[in-house]
Amino acid sequence: SKGEYRHYMLKEIFEQPEVLKRTLQGRISKHHVLEEAFGTEAKAIFDRVKGVQIVACGTSYHAGLVAKYWMESIAGIPCQVEVASEYRYRKVFVPDDTLFVTISQSGETADTLAALKEAKKSDYLASLVICNAPSSSLVRESDLVFMTHAGPEIGVASTKAFTTQLVALQLLTIALGRRHGLTEAIESDMVSALASLPEAVSKALLLDDVIKKTSEAFADKHHALFLGRGVEYPVAMEGALKLKEISYIHAESYPAGELKHGPLALVDSDMPIVAVAPNNELMEKLKSNLEEVQARGGKLFVFSDQADAFPNSNDVTVIDVHSVPETIAPMVYTIPLQLLSYHVAIVKGTDVDQPRNLAKSVTVE
Ligand code: M6R
Repeated sequence: SKGEYRHYMLKEIFEQPEVLKRTLQGRISKHHVLEEAFGTEAKAIFDRVKGVQIVACGTSYHAGLVAKYWMESIAGIPCQVEVASEYRYRKVFVPDDTLFVTISQSGETADTLAALKEAKKSDYLASLVICNAPSSSLVRESDLVFMTHAGPEIGVASTKAFTTQLVALQLLTIALGRRHGLTEAIESDMVSALASLPEAVSKALLLDDVIKKTSEAFADKHHALFLGRGVEYPVAMEGALKLKEISYIHAESYPAGELKHGPLALVDSDMPIVAVAPNNELMEKLKSNLEEVQARGGKLFVFSDQADAFPNSNDVTVIDVHSVPETIAPMVYTIPLQLLSYHVAIVKGTDVDQPRNLAKSVTVE
């Protein structure tokens, strides 16, 4: 039941501290990832992995895109990510010793399942599924299984499934990274950051009231741009998907560095621009991208832990996110974006839990 909440989506957003904790339970010790969480055969398979191919759809695909940044920068192994509906119909080159990874909340998405069946005919080392539905088809068909413990997700817009998938993918990054030079010290730092995630998400949820007020600025808008750089770019993509899915506002995401190559032409005072801007080595670059947007009359909504870097004005609203370790920033910054789409949908009066034309589980192609 929805309990005290007006919609399943809101309930599921607020469940995240709890389900993230559950997804981490028994999967980490004080300093280490417990890789048995990926199945008893995981160790022998992980020892051989030289690359990763991720396939998924929608929000689960966005989780995969975040993981690509982690795999290549933290684990030091190549990682490809593709939407299942493209992957399954393409002649694919499979490098030696590649692990095939699917990500799915439902475990029943037709294209993802078909992609796995194709992959099983190719020369992959093994298949792993990151899934939220224990007795689903993807779980049955995969060699290794990592269950996210998000609990049933009823809202069509995926929320808690996404953040738990990110946790799973970060654990996988660490487990594979260990074999490719990831040090014990870095593993330990990442594990303690993960252990702090439920608390960090609880804090981010306190932004609810601020975001509710901010959402009014979107009520009469028809378009929005979501910008990020680096690992926050797929977080921006997910923010845009949430907004279009439940508020029907056309939202597009761009890596901020691409603005000049086209989308800047769209910017005027009717175009809200949402920026995911945690303080990292790309923030200064992002900041100068945003100044260009501002110079063209764009209205900025900046989610950042560096409020000072973005002075509030008529054209700039800063949503002050607390500082968190960089490795968990994608999960934490997802929370205010989920809340933003929820409140915009409420202002617009759309059907939050059952957006038009969409089904929770896409079991036909
Ligand atoms: O069950 P899956 O994770 O395989 O579903 C994939 C997509 O259909 C799903 O994420 C969809 O994009 C959501 N409605 C997004 O909120």
